[in-house]
Amino acid sequence: MHVNRICELLNIRYPIVQAPMNWVSGPELVAAVSGAGGLGTLGPNAGSSDITHDVHLTGERIRQRIHAIRALTDAPFGVNIVVGFGEDTKYSKKVVDVVVEEKVPVAVVSVGSPRVYTDRLKQAGIIVLHAISTAEHARKAARAGVDAVICEGWESGGHKGLTGLTTFALTPMVADAVDIPVITGGGIADARGILAAMALGADGVYVGTRFMVTRQSASHENVKRAILEAQDACTDSIPKGKMIARDLSNAFTAKHLELVESGAELQAIINHLEGHSQYHSQLLGDAGGAEICCGQGASLIHDIPDAAELVATLVDEVASRFAQLEMRLNGLLKHGHRSAH
Ligand SMILES: Cc1cc2nc3c(=O)[nH]c(=O)nc-3n(C[C@H](O)[C@H](O)[C@H](O)COP(=O)(O)O)c2cc1C
Repeated sequence: MHVNRICELLNIRYPIVQAPMNWVSGPELVAAVSGAGGLGTLGPNAGSSDITHDVHLTGERIRQRIHAIRALTDAPFGVNIVVGFGEDTKYSKKVVDVVVEEKVPVAVVSVGSPRVYTDRLKQAGIIVLHAISTAEHARKAARAGVDAVICEGWESGGHKGLTGLTTFALTPMVADAVDIPVITGGGIADARGILAAMALGADGVYVGTRFMVTRQSASHENVKRAILEAQDACTDSIPKGKMIARDLSNAFTAKHLELVESGAELQAIINHLEGHSQYHSQLLGDAGGAEICCGQGASLIHDIPDAAELVATLVDEVASRFAQLEMRLNGLLKHGHRSAH
């Protein structure tokens, strides 16, 4: 049997990558997912009790969490590097220093050019996964030498590019555009999403919001409960300068959209963002009035499982859903057509 390219690249059992989440994916979640055979990814701030603008401290906090993950599991894991733009890259540079010093197995690089850190990470023997949102961006990442690309479809929770390409359209475009393995995410909350992603040409899946609502996620209980209550069309896309964020619809998103649409001064928008950030929701528990990054798959989430059990359930359900899929495909496959006559 052929080995799945992502399992082979990352030395993991199941091609399920828990996507990095600011304030949410800390050592407990990462270790649970990696220990269960997927790839857990450490997100920024997860495990902190305050916000720091100190570059050195930002790096040292990541180092502590890398040690905490290693105390919990021997399995491979990833650390998120949010490249950023201009002056902000001073934080990611420090995180890259720590990731290299600590010989982290996998870097999950997002929000920025693949040219900034890929060479340095590769020279240190680190596997580089780079998040993209267009086929052209994927080609650039492949040319820069990354090991695999991660498609972030429009359904995704959190910050992403402005292009609006959905997981359904983006994944096959990227699979056609590059020869390296493709991981895809955005809106994947159950085994149906995993099967669909693989059918579209992905080698692995990238799952955020579903893992936010697990026992080991650092999200405040109020946030987890708000997502359980979410139904149907429950997210808003909100513009934030060079990026767009997808958030759970609440008083924060309504006010943000009102400010943007009424042409409010930039400073008023920044004040609103800073006063109602993910720190206020994920850490302090203001689920009604602060920003909660959240994907469109939120309304498919109905429980708060153990994260390792979730990995096992997803894998089991892929098999049962695949059997149902085969039955549906009978209408399209030639042998099904013949047997119907
Ligand atoms: C709460 C939350 C926080 C996030 N924070 C980050 C982050 O710090 N860095 C990053 O690269 N992506 C971040 N993302 C995006 C995810 O890594 C991933 O692209 C997304 O969750 C996939 O879509 P899904 O939520 O529909 O599964 C965040 C997403 C969520 C839901």
